[in-house]
Amino acid sequence: MPELAIHGGVPVRERMLPYSRQWVDDDDIEAVVRVLRSDWLTTGPNVTAFEEAFAAWVGTEHAVAVSSGTAALHAAVFAAGIGPGDEVIVPPMTFAASANCIRYQGGTPIFADVRPDTLNLDPVRAEAGITERTRAIITVDYTGQPSDLDELRALRERHHLILIEDGCHALGATYRGRPVGCLAHLTAFSLHPVKHITTGEGGVVTTSDGEMAARLRLFRNHGITTVPSQREAAGSWFYEMTELGYNYRLTDFQCALGQAQLQKLPAWVARRREIAARYSAAFAVIRELETPPVLADRESSWHLYVIRLNLEYLRVGRIEVFRALRAENIGVNVHYIPVPWHPYYQKLGYTKGQWPVAEAAYERLLSLPIFPAMSDQDVEDVVKAVSKVIKHYG
Ligand SMILES: Cc1ncc(COP(=O)(O)O)c(C=O)c1O
Repeated sequence: MPELAIHGGVPVRERMLPYSRQWVDDDDIEAVVRVLRSDWLTTGPNVTAFEEAFAAWVGTEHAVAVSSGTAALHAAVFAAGIGPGDEVIVPPMTFAASANCIRYQGGTPIFADVRPDTLNLDPVRAEAGITERTRAIITVDYTGQPSDLDELRALRERHHLILIEDGCHALGATYRGRPVGCLAHLTAFSLHPVKHITTGEGGVVTTSDGEMAARLRLFRNHGITTVPSQREAAGSWFYEMTELGYNYRLTDFQCALGQAQLQKLPAWVARRREIAARYSAAFAVIRELETPPVLADRESSWHLYVIRLNLEYLRVGRIEVFRALRAENIGVNVHYIPVPWHPYYQKLGYTKGQWPVAEAAYERLLSLPIFPAMSDQDVEDVVKAVSKVIKHYG
């Protein structure tokens, strides 16, 4: 058996393979440079063009570009009218921003546990968390696999709630044949470099509701009713601030990058699916781990590939497997520490032990590298390193 790199053996690869990374080509760079030479650096024609292309891609009426996925969630919570005293259901197995956005507007996150297979919000647990103060549900498409949207939409109807989808992992995913982005009242996307397409930092909210779209646009621009080009066209300096908004605008050159990247999305999602299929085939025979479940009625866009360790078959814990894989130069990661476990939420009074499915899953999770720019050799290095480390500790 080859010696593990962590014990002084030769690592599977010479350089660290990150868990994700952007892909920027010459045409992306040229698109950005063209805008840098133009008159508009911030809100200009490329913002509108990117928003229209994005809305068309996800099959909805409106897309509003903002400065991050977090800003997209914050704007969505604002557009949903959440305020102090309102409760919002959200799963604990996600990035902190999915719940923080509720706090930004003074609302109260009510964490509801996830399904044991997909680790997405469990509609039954979500319904159990609903009270007369509940105003909305934020569901998260964990790893890129869409949530149980039909069940959640039925809940929304039954209890007169707003459904917000945190689709930050799920650009390019489909649910029962329809793209994520047209299935909830509001869907938030992230354009961070580890995501499916990037603008550096950036985010988008999609909606088919014109009033909500108007509120999103107001919110990203300080709550001010007009942008400078509208004032110029009207020959007037007049504007009004009608709501407390923020500067969450995305620049024109970032939107040019977004348009160029969007062209490549189908090929990149296809490559992610190919890599996921290779991993799942290679690891199916390893009893020390479980591969991520794939449901027949939805197609993941594979932002993450998360295995679960069967710790009862291993001589060591997750941390030793994590460190051994890092020593082999495989940039594994863990997504996520349950959000209410963070000290900020603990100080607010949330106590551990309320979400047994998410909390037990967290102890076993490990994210493997997955991104479209990975070569076949990179993929085989991951397969080799995982097999080597697991065989050693199994
Ligand atoms: C599920 C989820 N929601 C929200 C965000 C926030 O996105 P951003 O980093 O663009 O602010 C992330 C980012 O990693 C995420 O994974």
